[in-house]
Amino acid sequence: MFRYMVVETVVNKEKLLKEQLLSRDEVMDALDFIIKKIDENLETYTYKFPSACTTEQRYRIKDNDDWTNGFWTGMLWLAYEYTENEKYRKIAEIHIDSFEKRYEDNFVLEHHDLGFLYLLSAVAGYKITGSEKAKNLGIKAAEKLKGRYQEKGKFIQAWGKLGEENEYRMIIDCFLNIPLLYWAYEETNDVSYLNVANSHYNTAINTVIREDASTYHTYYFDKETGKPTKGVTHQGFKDDSCWARGQAWAIIGMPLNYRYNLMEESKGIYNAVANYYLNRLPEDLIPYWDLVFKEEDKEPRDSSSAAIVVCGMLEMAKYNEDLEEKELNIRASNGMLRNLINEYTTKNNSESNGILMHGVYSWQHNKGINECNLWGDYFYMEGLMRLYNKNWKIYW
Ligand code: GLY
Repeated sequence: MFRYMVVETVVNKEKLLKEQLLSRDEVMDALDFIIKKIDENLETYTYKFPSACTTEQRYRIKDNDDWTNGFWTGMLWLAYEYTENEKYRKIAEIHIDSFEKRYEDNFVLEHHDLGFLYLLSAVAGYKITGSEKAKNLGIKAAEKLKGRYQEKGKFIQAWGKLGEENEYRMIIDCFLNIPLLYWAYEETNDVSYLNVANSHYNTAINTVIREDASTYHTYYFDKETGKPTKGVTHQGFKDDSCWARGQAWAIIGMPLNYRYNLMEESKGIYNAVANYYLNRLPEDLIPYWDLVFKEEDKEPRDSSSAAIVVCGMLEMAKYNEDLEEKELNIRASNGMLRNLINEYTTKNNSESNGILMHGVYSWQHNKGINECNLWGDYFYMEGLMRLYNKNWKIYW
């Protein structure tokens, strides 16, 4: 059973329902611009990877050593599907070798972000090419993720040494890692993957999502009893504020779970978290980096949060039976995407090697503030791909 959650009425619903749908030309122009940027970056980032975020609007050159590397590989798979040009597939396959080596060396993998890393590389590769090698790598990554499950508390421990008291917590971002377990269940019929994913999901809903449908970033548990103890932020403004990207991870997390479990409650929770988000957007529908801020605070936006929400809304629209809710998801996501296309990309900044500007990685850690970031670029491209090809099969 899930806790009671307030579902706010969307205050600007009439306006959102009037957002124009993007035309095929708008979508293709935006995708073509992304392909141009990918082509500019391809040689530099064949055996190396872009940094998680830009510094002065430029990605640095890094090894496969962060939670974000899969987004670049995921963009190459999207580029391959969009253009059918083999050069993107070849480099994505070189990346899969790199992810295999990373797995074998267990290099910076003692955390829960195996979903972000291996869904967009190995699993996407398997779904597109049928490669057994890619499939096996995906399953191994899922097995490792499953190993982070803590029975006491019933959650997947996000970071740090397993069982360490200071790290005995989950974080909201894990809504995007557990799809690796759903997929592994689908491929193997081993129900233990599904059980861990669902158990974590249920615990997350009853802890990191508050009764007013805003979200904590992280939630601690008592190591001895498993009792949920407290919500704490890591990248948001305050413990009791609502980090815009955290809310976005929750919004897309609901339909990704619904797809496998068909639990009606997930639709209700989706409406609660999505409506909370929509009601706190400024005029151009791109949030400040924490939803607590208003225009007068003059804080930066987080474009990546909007790009994630676009994908979440388009995913939910596949399952909405309520036609008005479906229309709201489609219209609001098109409106957000149009504003990202027109005002947030690097099309007037040829010096940048990024795509989507005005993201915030972590204000708490003074990292990537008002910069491009890899997941913003990825989800922006995924949102466009969803509109370009309504039958596109998601990698999550
Ligand atoms: N998963 C970390 C972040 O969203 O910044």
